[in-house]
Amino acid sequence: MRAPAVESAPMVEITVFDNGPCKVTGGVVLKDMTGKPFNLPNKDQFALCRCGNSANKPFCDGSHKTTGFQSQCRATPY
Ligand code: FES
Repeated sequence: MRAPAVESAPMVEITVFDNGPCKVTGGVVLKDMTGKPFNLPNKDQFALCRCGNSANKPFCDGSHKTTGFQSQCRATPY
């Protein structure tokens, strides 16, 4: 008898952009503090504000480009 197929976890990637948002790619559910999911037009790709200036938080609306937000994060080896 064969074991049931194990579904692999969806691949999610989050990229921290220089002077900009965190781009999320992959199938994810983004919820607020009450557990209610955000209605995302595209669950497979969206950008989360990192600068705090978006009028559409938690999503990036491009405001970081006009506010002079500066942040470059580089991963360091373990
Ligand atoms: S990172 Fe784009 S508006 Fe904040």
